[in-house]
Amino acid sequence: MSATAQSPVAAGPLDVAALRAEFPVLRQQVHGKPLVFLDSAASSQKPQVVIDAERRCYEEYYANIHRGVHKLSQLSTEAYEGAREDVRRFLGAASTKEVVFTRGTTESVNLVAQTWGRRHVGPGDEVLITALEHHSNIVPWQMLCEERHAKLKVAPIDDRGAVLLDQFEKQLSVRTKLCAFAHVSNALGTVNPVKQMTAMAKKRGAVVLVDGAQALPRLPVDVQDLGCDFYAFSGHKAYGPSGIGVLWGRRELLEAMPPWQGGGDMILSVTFGKTLYNELPYKFEAGTPNIAGGIGLGAAIRWLESKGMQRILAHEDAVLRHGTEALLQVPGLTLVGTAPEKAGVLSFVLEGIHPHDIGQVLDSEGVAIRTGHHCAQPVMDRYGIPATARASLGVYNTTEDLDALVRALHKVREMFG
Ligand code: ALA
Repeated sequence: MSATAQSPVAAGPLDVAALRAEFPVLRQQVHGKPLVFLDSAASSQKPQVVIDAERRCYEEYYANIHRGVHKLSQLSTEAYEGAREDVRRFLGAASTKEVVFTRGTTESVNLVAQTWGRRHVGPGDEVLITALEHHSNIVPWQMLCEERHAKLKVAPIDDRGAVLLDQFEKQLSVRTKLCAFAHVSNALGTVNPVKQMTAMAKKRGAVVLVDGAQALPRLPVDVQDLGCDFYAFSGHKAYGPSGIGVLWGRRELLEAMPPWQGGGDMILSVTFGKTLYNELPYKFEAGTPNIAGGIGLGAAIRWLESKGMQRILAHEDAVLRHGTEALLQVPGLTLVGTAPEKAGVLSFVLEGIHPHDIGQVLDSEGVAIRTGHHCAQPVMDRYGIPATARASLGVYNTTEDLDALVRALHKVREMFG
C-alpha cells in the first residue's frame, strides 16, 4: 500500500549494478545477445517495486475508489490518494488539489487547451510554442487556435537545437495568452531554461505550460521554483505504469477552469436541470480512473526519490557524455541535437544509411533504439531529414551499453557502408 512519507535517499554515487537488478526485464537476451535497452525516452522499463505495487493492488485490495464504504474501496482510495500526495511532494506543489491524474502528458496538454484555452484564447490572440516541441505540445494548440481564430507562433531553435531566447522573447506580446514548451526535448535532448523562459512569458502576462514528459525521470523538478502555471508528465516514462499521468496546475487557475469531460467523480450532484461540479482535483477526473496505474505511479515516484534525482542526473549525464564522445568516433555519424544543456537523448544519422536499417541491425545485436521522427516532425523538417536513429537513456544504462551501441553501429556500417 502507499507509503506517503518520502523514502530515504542513499548517499554517494548510484550503485547502478544493484539498481539494474531491480529491473526484471533487463535480465533477458534478445536474438541471443544481452539486451541493451536504449529506448527509455519512448517508455522506460519498470522496477520490481512498481510491478509489485500494481500486482498487490489487484491481488489484495482492488475496488473502485471514492465510491464504496466497504473495506476494499477504502483501501484502494487510500492508496490512490497516497499516490497523489507522492506526486505533490515530488513536484513541490502546494496542495494535492493541484494534482490532476490524467492518462498522460498528451491528455494533460489537451485538458488545458480545451478548458483554460477555450475560455481565455480568442480571435487575434496568440499562443507561443517552440520549434522543438513534440506533436502533443503542438497539435492541441493548433486545434485551439483554429477554433478560436487565434495565431500559433513558433520560437525558432539554432543548429544545435537550443531555443533562440532573444527570438522567443521577441515573439512574446500582449496578445500572447499562453506559452507552452518542453522542459527536455524528446527528439534532441535539449534542456530548455524553463525558469528563464517562464519569467519572460510572465512579464508579458502569459500563462505558461511546461511539457515535463522527458524531464521528470531525469531532473529534479520543483514547480514553485520554475514559476510555471501548468506542468504535465506521464507515468510510463518515469518508471511507472502506462495510461497514467499528471497535470499539475496552480489552484486559482484550475478553480476558474470549466470541467472538460463529464461523468462520474467530477460531479457533486446531478439533476436534469443542473449539475454541480466536484471540488479540485476531481472536477477534472471524470470516470473510473486507472486506479492500479495511479498506485504504481506513486511507487515509481517513491523509487525515484529513494535513488535521489541529483544522483540520477549525475549518472545519466556521465553516460550521456561518454556516449556522445563514443558516437562521434563512428565514421559518417552526425549527432542531431548538440545543445550545451542536454539530457538523456542521442539522436543521430549515419551517412547513406536509413535510420530504419540502423534500427533493424541494432535490434539483431540486442540493442533497442527508436528510429523515425519521434512524434516531432517539425524538428526533422528543421534539420531537413525525414528521421533519426535515437538512443535514449534510463537510469539503468551504463557506459558499457553505449559501447555496445557503438560496436553494433560498426556492424551497421560494415553491412551498408
Ligand atoms: N514521446 C515518445 C518518444 O519520444 C513516444 O519516443
